[in-house]
Amino acid sequence: MILYNRNRRLRTNQAIRDLVRETTLTTNDFIMPIFIAEGENVKEEISSMPGIYRQSLDLTVKEVKELWSLGIKAVNIYVKINENLKDNTGKEAWNKDGLMQKSIKAIKNAVPEMVIMPDVALDPYSIYGHDGIVEDNKIINDLTVDALVKMSLSHAEAGADFIAPSDMMDGRVAAIREALEENGFHEVGIMSYAAKYASSYYGPFRDALGSAPGFGDKKTYQMDYGNSKEAINETLKDIEEGADIVMVKPGLPYLDIVSKLNEIVDVPISVFQVSGEYAMIKAAAKNGWLDNDKIVIESLTCIKRAGASLISTYFAKEAAKLLNP
Ligand code: PBG
Repeated sequence: MILYNRNRRLRTNQAIRDLVRETTLTTNDFIMPIFIAEGENVKEEISSMPGIYRQSLDLTVKEVKELWSLGIKAVNIYVKINENLKDNTGKEAWNKDGLMQKSIKAIKNAVPEMVIMPDVALDPYSIYGHDGIVEDNKIINDLTVDALVKMSLSHAEAGADFIAPSDMMDGRVAAIREALEENGFHEVGIMSYAAKYASSYYGPFRDALGSAPGFGDKKTYQMDYGNSKEAINETLKDIEEGADIVMVKPGLPYLDIVSKLNEIVDVPISVFQVSGEYAMIKAAAKNGWLDNDKIVIESLTCIKRAGASLISTYFAKEAAKLLNP
């Protein structure tokens, strides 16, 4: 039989497969999300995220040094604050001596080159576990944006490299960009969580921070997973408002969105492989149903293939070790 196209020729052996491969993962693709707790010498495993810990700042600094030595260039930071510091204004979020601000300073000091991207949203500071200020059971957009601006400036003052608003309020990117410019933070970037869906995949993250919503859900600000045009609209608006990097979140179930955006936007796209995605892979691997190491690399490579330039992933440290044994 004469076959002009034997597609298998390009798959004959590892060398030819390596030569024709389009997407290769490196540690330059990763952002490691880290959870910081109050106290000293505290290291608590998050039960729904085996291998991921909430750590006090002293241990976090050591961890960040290790991440840097493994080739990881960026961290997302989340803090778990004491219940008695929570209220409905979120004011602890811009306390210049707050846990987040102290953490940014300490990490910058210990590993100056590490790109620090602290989370901007009120949920870890809110008695209601919502990303914004609540009145009559509603999340009030414009009041929340004022709070997010204060929070962002306090992060920039502490030494953050990128402001990463994950709250999904309207107009916050423009308001944050203006405030950064007016205060001389011209080099501080914004990575906006642009297409962030109201997703049940965030469950384990809310366990980690004790930040589950006290009433209702987040569907009046996060997007409906039935929609994709809305993701394009949100993303284009965030770019117009001054976002330097735009994010799609969650990751694997939303790669159609990443792929669409990759065709139309000219700024880097980051993808968040979220806590629930991590938990699923770990649970299956623990049962012996999936090969952890292979799935970690496959899932991250697929996210990159879809169009991600950066990937926030709880697998960053593990994947770095797998890529560079
Ligand atoms: C908070 C925030 C969430 C995540 C990142 N920032 C949770 C939420 O919106 O409820 C989720 C991250 C994850 O699940 O890994 N604004």
